[in-house]
Formats: sequence, structure tokens, C-alpha cells
Amino acid sequence: MTSRVALGIDIGGSGIKGAPVDLDRGVLLGERVKIATPTESTPHAVAEIVRQIAEHFTDTLPDDAPIGVTIPGVVQHGVVRSAANIDKAWLDCPGEALFSATLGRRCLLVNDADAAGVAELRHGAAKDVAGLVIVTTLGTGIGIALLHNGVLIPNAELGHLEIDGHDAETRAAASARERESLSWGKWAARLQRYYTHLENLLWPDLFVVGGGVSRKAEKFLPLLSLRTPIVPAELQNAAGIIGAAALAAD
Ligand code: BGC
Repeated sequence: MTSRVALGIDIGGSGIKGAPVDLDRGVLLGERVKIATPTESTPHAVAEIVRQIAEHFTDTLPDDAPIGVTIPGVVQHGVVRSAANIDKAWLDCPGEALFSATLGRRCLLVNDADAAGVAELRHGAAKDVAGLVIVTTLGTGIGIALLHNGVLIPNAELGHLEIDGHDAETRAAASARERESLSWGKWAARLQRYYTHLENLLWPDLFVVGGGVSRKAEKFLPLLSLRTPIVPAELQNAAGIIGAAALAAD
């Protein structure tokens, strides 16, 4: 049996990355292509880069391969509804229609954390976990995917919970640790406050921690004391690409 393939493209603050995905095994088929995110990351500038990435793979993928694209904002019915850490021109932009028109192919647009969560659900740390799994991506912001018995509840923007008078991601995202040169211990104290708040509100069965910093999970996860088990993501920086491709193929 030949495996099912789709193209996943992950739009991040510093780079836009894409690769074909083997949907059955949940792995990238070959090298990712990465192009720097334009300084002025307006919808049209980003769509042009997404087009270049898709074009790069035209010879390796079937013409009808599904294409999924992530964005770090709320996506409702193909329209981007929030822009905390991206160019404000994205607000209310019909991103899915824009990408589909620019590529001349139908694309699916999804929230970046939702894509990462679905990848962890199908092929990583959230696989076969009953009940509620909360996948958190710690990066420039805090992304959240809520997965209940294998079903994604999309666009949960719990990275923006107000805690002690602050938007949580401004204190506890990985970017806050870098910006304020926090020690692992000081940053972990902020994560402790954040994850405790989340577990008291939602009573999850498992937290999965993704984002680039999850590669160094041993530096901060052992410092947390929670009633909920908390584990690093397994798919690391491929999660967004794999999840976007998987959702596009659904
Ligand atoms: C955005 C979310 C996004 C997260 C991670 C937050 O600031 O509001 O939509 O998933 O950052 O990129």
C-alpha cells in the first residue's frame, strides 16, 4: 500500500517551514525547506513565501496532495481573528482564501498550536491518552491545543489567561525567559503559577509541553510540582508541519 502524503507549512515568527508529510507514519518525507519570515510579515508577503515553499515540492508531491498551513492566531472558518504576535494586517484577513488563490490550490489554514496538538495526538505524546490533554507550545507566545478523547477543540486561547494582572504569555512564554534573561528556576516559578492555574480551571489528565524550548525540558519540567502529569512533546519542531498536513487531509 502506498502511504498518504500531504504538504505541511508552518508559519513562525522567524521562519516559514514546509515539508511533505507521510500521514500514516507521521514523519517528514525529506528535508524541510525554511525561508526567513519577512520583516514586514503582511498576509501578501507571507503568502508569496508559502507559494515558493509549495512550488519547491511540486515535483515530489502528487498534484492533488492536500496542503495545510499554520498561523499563530485564531482561525475561524478560514479567517484569521487574532494577531497577538503577528502583523496586525492579519486581523480579519481571509487567510485560507488568500493562500488558496496564491497557490492556485485549495489550502487549509489552522492555528499553529492546534496543528502541533493534532500531531502529538496522532503520532506523539498525546496518543491514546483518555480524557483531556492540554498541549502547550512555549515560544514567542503560549499556544494551546485542547484534546478531549482524541477530539480537538480549536482556538483555545488560554495563553492569554490573565494571571496576577498580566497576560500569561507575556510572563511565562519562552520569549519572556530570553527577554528578561531569567534563570531556569525563575522561569519555572512562572510556569508553576501558569500550569497550576490551568489545572485548577480545566482538570486535565495530561499536559504536553512543546515549542523549541521543550528540547531542554530536563532543565525546567523537574522543577514543577503539579497534580497533572506533564511531559515534553515528542515531535518537536516538526509538529506544526505534521499536524497541518494531517488536518488538511482529513
Ligand atoms: C496566539 C495563539 C498562538 C500562540 C502560539 C498566541 O499569542 O494568540 O493563537 O497559537 O501565540 O503561537
